Order: sequence, then structure tokens, then C-alpha cells
Amino acid sequence: MSTAISPTAYNYKVVRQFAIMTVVWGILGMGLGVFIASQLVWPELNFDLPWTTFGRLRPLHTNLVIFAFGGCALFATSYYVVQRTCQTRLISDGLAAFTFWGWQAVIVGAIVTLPMGFTTTKEYAELEWPLAILLAIVWVTYALVFFGTIVKRKTKHIYVGNWFYGAFILVTAMLHIVNHASLPVSFFKSYSAYSGATDAMIQWWYGHNAVGFFLTTGFLGMMYYFVPKQAERPIYSYRLSIVHFWALITLYIWAGPHHLHYTALPDWAQSLGMAMSIILLAPSWGGMINGMMTLSGAWHKLRTDPILRFLVVSLAFYGMSTFEGPMMAIKTVNSLSHYTDWTIGHVHAGALGWVAMISIGAIYHMIPKLFGRAQMHSTGLINAHFWLATIGTVLYIASMWVNGITQGLMWRAINDDGTLTYSFVEALQASHPGFIVRALGGAFFASGMLFMAYNVYRTVRASDPAEAEAAAKIAVVGAH
Ligand code: HEM
Ligand code: HEM
Repeated sequence: MSTAISPTAYNYKVVRQFAIMTVVWGILGMGLGVFIASQLVWPELNFDLPWTTFGRLRPLHTNLVIFAFGGCALFATSYYVVQRTCQTRLISDGLAAFTFWGWQAVIVGAIVTLPMGFTTTKEYAELEWPLAILLAIVWVTYALVFFGTIVKRKTKHIYVGNWFYGAFILVTAMLHIVNHASLPVSFFKSYSAYSGATDAMIQWWYGHNAVGFFLTTGFLGMMYYFVPKQAERPIYSYRLSIVHFWALITLYIWAGPHHLHYTALPDWAQSLGMAMSIILLAPSWGGMINGMMTLSGAWHKLRTDPILRFLVVSLAFYGMSTFEGPMMAIKTVNSLSHYTDWTIGHVHAGALGWVAMISIGAIYHMIPKLFGRAQMHSTGLINAHFWLATIGTVLYIASMWVNGITQGLMWRAINDDGTLTYSFVEALQASHPGFIVRALGGAFFASGMLFMAYNVYRTVRASDPAEAEAAAKIAVVGAH
């Protein structure tokens, strides 16, 4: 690749790096998902070694898919979108490169420390304090690069996608720093600064907003750029997008207590979380409708464009999981769903159907542009990937619904004399077929990622450095 950096060109290097790593971490994180799903089918796969037990690999799976795969997709797309919609280069190549290498270092740190058993024990915030501090430094640098680029923009207003990315960056920094406040007692062990019910509330304020801002708001930023681009239509309603933005960020922050129903948390806080979660349905669907309706007059493109199909189906799953979530937040429903596989089904409806599918669509859209090609090496392979991903997601979530409701009903069934009708092991045996179907669905999804890797590899290999350089030139009019 040419080393001459033109000030009139976008910084595509960092976007390329993050885009490629999205595919790499996607394969590893989802491959590990298939492995832990298989451990639940064949427990022998725990190998009786501490490093390979389900309990240690599960948090590694969540860290790899959320922060490595999802995080790299968010970095790649936000750097791409902010430059193109602001018609300017990132403010600093050095700081952008630091965010890339720093982020990869955090991930490698997770791969080493989590299987060794070093963990804060807080879900989605497991990394011990040295890594948590590195993560905070990388994140603040990310904020500087992103907002600095917005400040030096050549356009008059700030495109709505950037509002969503901006909120995701700011709130993630706030959540991470507050939830990670802790007292280190050694290099690899720290204790939370909070205790008891306060600790639980802060953890789930973090946990739910990791969903709300990391897994939702950031990806909505992606949606607002890539859906109109791929459909070649303007966003359905700019006004709705503004209402959507403010309503979503105002409401999400209150919904955390729905993770703590029937616990020591004060009852009023649980009810508040429930009420806010139900209201959250409205802005969530507002966003989904805005994305879907962007296809007005362009629906026929779905017949021939599998990238658009990824984007639209992701919106359908977004709509589905944001209907399911508010229902599960209702206390009486939660008394059945909590602790069961229903939660796991809901998680992956959002994670596979929404987060992964929209990221995959966005990466397929960007790769040819980043590498100076007209299109991806094979549209047929994208199509095959689309079907593997869709079938995989449906198998995953349907099996978990059946398992979840079966488990919930079996656990609460009681005989006339008040004793339990079923033992725990009986409920586990009833779940076994669902575990097999889930592992199969996961294998479908993960194998689709291998198709993607091959397709990306062929596209990159055919790339011409001069054309790639020319593609990065900032066109002053109509660049976005
Ligand atoms: C309006 C939107 C949503 C609401 C109100 C909502 C609500 C809920 C509720 C009530 C639970 C179960 C809590 C429990 O019983 O412990 C849950 C779990 C979860 N949801 Fe959602 N959800 C929404 C959207 C989403 C989306 C779009 C995603 C993913 C992209 C997602 C990811 C998760 C995760 C990861 C968990 C599991 C947390 C854990 O226990 O580790 N949710 N959600
Ligand atoms: C091939 C795809 C995948 C497979 C086979 C898979 C499998 C699994 C399994 C077996 C678990 C543990 C469930 C349990 O404890 O009973 C899990 C948990 C989880 N996975 Fe995945 N996963 C996949 C992809 C993803 C992706 C792409 C994401 C996020 C973007 C994700 C996010 C999560 C989360 C947040 C949890 C924890 C849920 C909770 O605590 O409630 N997974 N996954």
C-alpha cells in the first residue's frame, strides 16, 4: 500500500484494519460460541481442565463477540461514516492507530486472562483492573478522534448516524468508568468499590446500558448510514430519526433494574425499571420502522442484493427482540423467563439477528470501497452466507424459546402436597434436544462467517493499491 498520505484523502487504513479484524474476531468468538454450546450437549468437552471449563470460556465468548467482533465493527464503521459524512479526514492518524492497537491489546489480554480465571466476576465487565484501565484510555482516545473529526467537519450539520455513534461512545465511557471503580489488592485481583444491592444495581445499570448503548445505539448509527446507502434511498424520515434518538437515549438509561426483579433491590426501583422498559418499545420500533420504510420504492432490490437483505433482516430481528425484551421486563413474565434459556434466546435474537447481521451487511458494503474494488469477489457467496446466518439464528432462538418455557414451567410445577413435581435433572434432560439444535444453529451461523472470510480474502487479494488510494480521495460534493 502506498505510504504517501494525502491530506485530501480519508484515513481508510484504520478502517481497513478494524474491518478485517471484525471478520477474524467474529470467527473466533462465534467458533467459541459453538464450542461452549457443544459443551452443554457433551460435557466431556470440558476436558477436566480448569482453562477449558464452560465457566471460564463463556465470559471469553461474550468478550470476543461483544467487544472484539462488535467493537471492531463499531470502530470500523464509525471511522468510515464520520469521515464521509463530515467530508474530512480523521483528526489524527496517530491517535486512530493507537485505538486500533490498543483495542487489539485489550482483546489479547482477555484471551489470556479469562481462561486463567482472572475475573472481576461482573458480567460483561470481567476484565481485571490493568486491562480495564487500558480499555478506558483507548476509549477516551476514541472519543477524541471521533468528536475531534466532527468539530473539523466541512459539512454544515451533523448527520444523524453520528449522533448515535457519539451517544454510544460517551455513554460507554461513563458506564465503564463508574462500574469499574474498584480497589486493587494485587496485579490481578480487585474488589468493587460498591457492595450489596448497590453493587448489583450499578452492575446492571452498566449491563443493561452495555446492551442499550454498545449493542443498540452504536449499531443504530450503522443502520442510519448503511441502510440508505445500500438501498440508494434517503432515510425515510429525518424528523423521526431525531425523535428516535432523544427518546431512545432518555429511556434506556432507566431500564437496568429489570435484570434484578424479585431481588433485594427496593421494589419501587424494580417497578420503575419495568415501566421504563415497556415504554422503550416505542422508540425502538420508531427506529426499526424508519429503517424499514427507507426501502419504500426499493423493495425489489432485495431480490438481487444479499447485502441489503442482511441489513433488512437485521432490522426485523431488532424489532422482534425489542418487542420480546419489554415483555420479559414485566415482572410476572420475568418470574417465568429469568434463569431459563428464554433469556439466552432473547440475547441471541438481538446478538445474531440484529448486531451480527447488520455488522456483516455493513462490512460487505465497505470492503470493496476500502480496497478500491467495484464489488465483493462473489455475490453468490454473500447469498449463501445470508441463508446460513438466517437459518442459524432461527434454529438458535426457536430452540431456546422451547427450552426456556419448558424449564420455567417444570421448575415451578408443584404437587398437591407442595413438593416439586420435577427434579432439576429432569428439566435438564428435557432441555437436551434444544441444546443440540442450538449447537447446530450456531454451527450454521459460524460457518457462514468462514464464507465471508474467503470472500473478503479474494476481494482484498485482487485489490490494486493505486485504486484503493484513489478511492480514499475526498470528493467534495456528494461524498456521503
Ligand atoms: C426495548 C428493548 C429491550 C428490552 C426492554 C430488553 C429487556 C430485557 C430483559 C427483561 C431481559 C431479562 C433480564 C433477566 O431476566 O435477567 C433481557 C436480557 C438481555 N437482553 Fe434484552 N431487552 C431489549 C433489547 C435487547 C437487545 C436489542 C439486545 C441485544 C442486542 C439485548 C440483549 C440482552 C442481553 C445480552 C441480556 C442478558 C443479560 C444477562 O443476564 O446477562 N436486549 N433484556
Ligand atoms: C455462532 C454463534 C453463537 C453461538 C453458538 C453462541 C453460543 C452461546 C452460548 C452456548 C452461550 C451460553 C449460554 C448459557 O449460559 O446457557 C452464549 C452466551 C452469550 N452469547 Fe453467544 N453465541 C453465538 C454468538 C453470539 C454473538 C454474535 C453475540 C453478541 C454479539 C453473543 C452474545 C452472547 C451473550 C451476551 C451471552 C450471555 C447471555 C446471558 O448471560 O444471558 N453470542 N452464547
